[in-house]
Amino acid sequence: MISFQNVSVRYPLGNIALDSVSFDVEDQEFIYLVGPSGAGKTTILRLLLNDIQLTEGSILIEDMEITPKKFKQVAELRQRIGVVFQDFKILPDDNVYENVALSMRIKGFNEGETKKQVEEALELTGIADKMYQFPSQLSAGELQRVAIARAVVGDRKIILADEPTGNLDPKTTWEVMKIFKELEKTKTILFATHNTDIVNSMKRRVIILKNGKLVKDKKKGGYEL
Ligand SMILES: Nc1ncnc2c1ncn2[C@@H]1O[C@H](COP(=O)(O)OP(=O)(O)OP(=O)(O)O)[C@@H](O)[C@H]1O
Ligand SMILES: [Mg+2]
Repeated sequence: MISFQNVSVRYPLGNIALDSVSFDVEDQEFIYLVGPSGAGKTTILRLLLNDIQLTEGSILIEDMEITPKKFKQVAELRQRIGVVFQDFKILPDDNVYENVALSMRIKGFNEGETKKQVEEALELTGIADKMYQFPSQLSAGELQRVAIARAVVGDRKIILADEPTGNLDPKTTWEVMKIFKELEKTKTILFATHNTDIVNSMKRRVIILKNGKLVKDKKKGGYEL
């Protein structure tokens, strides 16, 4: 369960990135965050990672509460959340296995459990055969599959995706969406996108933002520019 309660983000020079935004997310819910550039989509995702601080309101993530006061459970918070970016952010000098295993190593999982989860995640994203290849040997679609595998390992329950298909061609985009469809069975997913084709074809709850305000919260799907 994630809950945003009257969350505002104001930057020192007066820029308002979020303006009293409230919404609740159930476990294993899939939500699209849409809206024009600058609407506040990335801001919502970064707040959940405690990458930026809120100025007002509160955010509840399971049993953790983020308020404008200092939040101390940052490591614990980030251990529960996997992130997928538009530009993949894969480490170029590490092979696929190492890229996906890294967060589990940092978290202190043993090698046996790490190997098991990495293999399962690569199976799920369809690139188990690329396990020992290096990023320079992979296509954009394959790199994004590595990033998704990396986001799920380590028992993460929440996946944040910021424009994850932004650098992919249409065919690869649909392949990646198939993976998200699989993931939503077990994970809570917040998916920021400009791709109206995706939103209109895979109908899920849509939160529409504009100038930092939540202007619409549609239970099932559909979005026009
Ligand atoms: N460091 C910052 N200082 C001041 N304003 C900022 C800063 N970072 C973001 N903003 C502002 O916050 C607002 C929301 O930005 P955000 O990145 O959340 O938009 P977005 O919906 O993700 O847009 P896009 O679709 O282009 O990715 C924008 O008006 C942006 O200019
Ligand atoms: Mg953004």
